[in-house]
Amino acid sequence: MNNFLELVARRESCRQYDSRPVETEKLLRCLEAARLAPSACNSQPWYFRVVTAPALRAQVAKATQSDGINGFTDGVPAFIVVTEEHAKLSQRILAKCDSQTYAQIDLGIATAHICLAATEQGLSSCIVGWMDEQKLHELLLIPQDTPIRLILCIGYAANDTLRPKKRKELAEITTFLE
Ligand SMILES: Cc1cc2nc3c(=O)[nH]c(=O)nc-3n(C[C@H](O)[C@H](O)[C@H](O)COP(=O)(O)O)c2cc1C
Repeated sequence: MNNFLELVARRESCRQYDSRPVETEKLLRCLEAARLAPSACNSQPWYFRVVTAPALRAQVAKATQSDGINGFTDGVPAFIVVTEEHAKLSQRILAKCDSQTYAQIDLGIATAHICLAATEQGLSSCIVGWMDEQKLHELLLIPQDTPIRLILCIGYAANDTLRPKKRKELAEITTFLE
């Protein structure tokens, strides 16, 4: 990969994985990219639980599936479960704005870092927001007051062919103000 936009273009949601396990060093590099992500007031309101053990993985997969959605997660070699931890923001900031909104933005940025770090290492990923959160709280012993926001699927794609991106045109979503 020669440049950043090429990396961005190569990242796509993968829903068919090879059974090959993901190397721990590669997962650690993804997590390091998340650790270095920016966050409001540098509050770093995140925690990442990595699930690669087959039995637990199968149960996490089931917790992302219902109503015919996310059936593909059965074949995911590694999950990263992203929880929102209490954001320690200054009183001045808290008085002015909703800290929880910031925390969710922070988690989104960290998640993007993970996905791009995965792509950079020849891995594929899919962000999953559809889940049975209660089931996951029980399964992973996550405290009830800690929201589980996203689950990242990481692994080697079964097929390397990229799909064309379906996106709005730049002109539809941008204006240069004068
Ligand atoms: C917050 C969020 C939640 C998502 N949840 C799911 C999900 O539960 N299942 C799924 O297959 N894809 C999920 N996706 C992936 C999107 O469908 C995908 O990013 C979008 O269609 C663009 O396609 P691309 O990622 O291949 O470029 C989610 C993406 C985001 C950002």
